[in-house]
Amino acid sequence: MDPVLVGAHLTIDLGALQDNYRLLAQKAAPAICAASVKANAYGLGIEKVGPALADAGCQHFFVALPTEGIDLRKLLPDAKIYVLGGLLKEAEKYYLEHNLIPVLNHLQEIEMWADYANEVGPLSAVLHVDTGITRLGLLENEIRSLAATPSLLDSLKIEYVMSHLACADDRTHPLNQQQLEKLHYFKGLLPEKLQETPISFANSAGIFLSKDYHFDMVRPGIALFGGNPMSAEDNPMKEVVHLQGKILQVQDVDSEIHVGYGATYRTQEVSRIATVSVGYADGYFRSLGNRAECAIKQNKVPVIGRVSMDIITIDVSTVAKEDCQPGDFVDLIGNGVTLDEVAAHAETIPYEILTSLGNRYYREYLEPVA
Ligand SMILES: Cc1ncc(COP(=O)(O)O)c(C=O)c1O
Repeated sequence: MDPVLVGAHLTIDLGALQDNYRLLAQKAAPAICAASVKANAYGLGIEKVGPALADAGCQHFFVALPTEGIDLRKLLPDAKIYVLGGLLKEAEKYYLEHNLIPVLNHLQEIEMWADYANEVGPLSAVLHVDTGITRLGLLENEIRSLAATPSLLDSLKIEYVMSHLACADDRTHPLNQQQLEKLHYFKGLLPEKLQETPISFANSAGIFLSKDYHFDMVRPGIALFGGNPMSAEDNPMKEVVHLQGKILQVQDVDSEIHVGYGATYRTQEVSRIATVSVGYADGYFRSLGNRAECAIKQNKVPVIGRVSMDIITIDVSTVAKEDCQPGDFVDLIGNGVTLDEVAAHAETIPYEILTSLGNRYYREYLEPVA
C-alpha cells in the first residue's frame, strides 16, 4: 500500500524487539526465555515478530488458541508452541497435526489428552496449577485427585508445570510471595512422576521480581514489545512501537470557540488547532479525548475535544507554524510519548492499547541492523 493513501503510520522496530528479548533472556538465565505472542503478537503481527524472536534465539512460544499456534507453526517449523487456552474440545487432531502442546488447565482436559494419547501414542503437555489468580489451572482439590490417580499421566509427557502471577507488576503486593509459596506446596502434592518436572512461572514482571520466580522457563510478553514490566519503576525496555498521525488541516481560531463533538472543549484565547487523521476506529481510544498528549518534534501538545472515529484535534499554538502543516506527522505513541503514558491517559493498560491498534495504518517493520 502506498503510504500517501493513509492517515497514520505504525512503525515496529524489530531490532528493538530483539534487544528486549536478549535483555530478558540474560536476566532470566539460566532459565529458558520463552515468548508470549498471543493475539497476533500483542497486535504487532506474528508474521514478523515470530521469526524476529526466533532469530534472536527464542525457541519456545506461548499462544492463546490453537488457531494462533497453527499460524505460528507455518512460520517456525521447529519451535516449541504451547497453547495457553488449553485443549479445546474436539480439536485434539489439530494439536497433533501442527505439533502444538496444550497447557492442560483442568482434569477433564488431562483426561481428554490422555485418551487421545492412548489412541495415537505418547503426547506432550504442560500442566497448569492455579496458585492464586483463579482463572485457569488446577486448584488444590484437583491436584489431589490427580495425585490419587497418577496412571492418568502414563501416556503423557508433562514438559513443564506452570502457574501465572496475578500482581507481579507491583513488587510490594503480598500475593506474589503467597503464590510462590503455593507453587512450591502444590509441586509437593503432585504425583511422584512430576517431582522433577521443570517449572514455568514468571511473566515479564515476574522476571524483575527476583530469581526466586524464574525457575526453569519464563514467559514474557509485554516487555518484549516495549511495555514497562514494573508499573512504578523506570522502564528498562526499548521502544518497539511508533505511531504517527498525519495532519489534515490547521486552523487559526479566535478565542472562545468549541472544539469537537459534544463541544466538550472551549478555547480560551487565540489558538491554532491541528486536525490529525487517527481516531477510535484505529484504536486511538475515545477516552484519550481532552487527556492525552502527542508530540511534534519532541514538543508535547494536548489532545483537545473528543476523539472521533477518524480524527483527533490537538492544540498546536506552541509549535512553530512551519513544523505543523497539512501532511506533517505528529507522534502519538513513541518518540517522546510513551506507550505506558498513553495507556494511563486512556485509563487502561499497554496490552489493550497494543492489541487494539487498527488495520488502517501503513505498517512498516524496521529490520534489525545486521
Ligand atoms: C499465562 C500467561 N503467561 C504469560 C503471559 C505474558 O504476560 P506479560 O505480557 O505480562 O509478560 C500472559 C499474558 O497475559 C499469560 O496469560
